[in-house]
Amino acid sequence: MSGREPGSLLGGLFRVRRAAEGDRRALAEMLDRCTGETRYRRFHGHVNVFPERYLAEALSGSPVHLALVAAADDGAVVALASCRTVAAGVAEIGILVEDAWQRLGIGAFLLSRIISHSERTGLTVLKAQVLTDQAWITRMLGAHGPCDMASSRGVLDVSLRRAMRDCSAAASDPCRQSIDDDLVRPA
Ligand SMILES: CC(C)(COP(=O)(O)OP(=O)(O)OC[C@H]1O[C@@H](n2cnc3c(N)ncnc32)[C@H](O)[C@@H]1OP(=O)(O)O)[C@@H](O)C(=O)NCCC(=O)NCCS
Repeated sequence: MSGREPGSLLGGLFRVRRAAEGDRRALAEMLDRCTGETRYRRFHGHVNVFPERYLAEALSGSPVHLALVAAADDGAVVALASCRTVAAGVAEIGILVEDAWQRLGIGAFLLSRIISHSERTGLTVLKAQVLTDQAWITRMLGAHGPCDMASSRGVLDVSLRRAMRDCSAAASDPCRQSIDDDLVRPA
């Protein structure tokens, strides 16, 4: 694949792929570069390192936990997104883009990959927890379907409802693709 794959936004400035054990160090460095505010917004607590249980599962390649990283041209990891199945058809999602790379479309791109994954795997409810002052994130999620919301103590629980898709259609249907098919591989 060329170094300027159009599917990777920003003309190839980042690549998206499944997170792997070998990303541990790059992820720790990314978290270090994040401001305390960004870390707080992702984990709703003062976090300096990724919670080990979360990280171990995210990097394990587990079928119930899809974790994606966005990597810059120099190999630095700049974002981590996860989609963790918590019950039949239901998953929790979380996205973290480091400050210097925010507002460049990476979060929306990662979300679109999670949506594709949900279609392939029959997830019909995607749950996200966001701080109530980030109502704009509900617009980001709402672009993919109706959202139910409940607010408690400054945190908004958002449930994005996805209609079940019929994956028995033609082979070209995106919901039939494997996870690697619609990811932009590293050059
Ligand atoms: C939430 C987050 C993942 C968004 O990622 P991002 O790469 O910055 O977002 P994008 O550039 O893809 O923008 C997506 C949309 O949100 C809007 N947006 C992004 N940041 C915004 C902000 N701070 N205020 C208002 N709107 C914002 C963009 O304008 C865009 O809208 P559009 O499609 O109408 O143009 C990122 O800000 C982040 O990691 N924040 C800290 C952790 C967090 O809050 N995670 C969410 C809870 S799990």
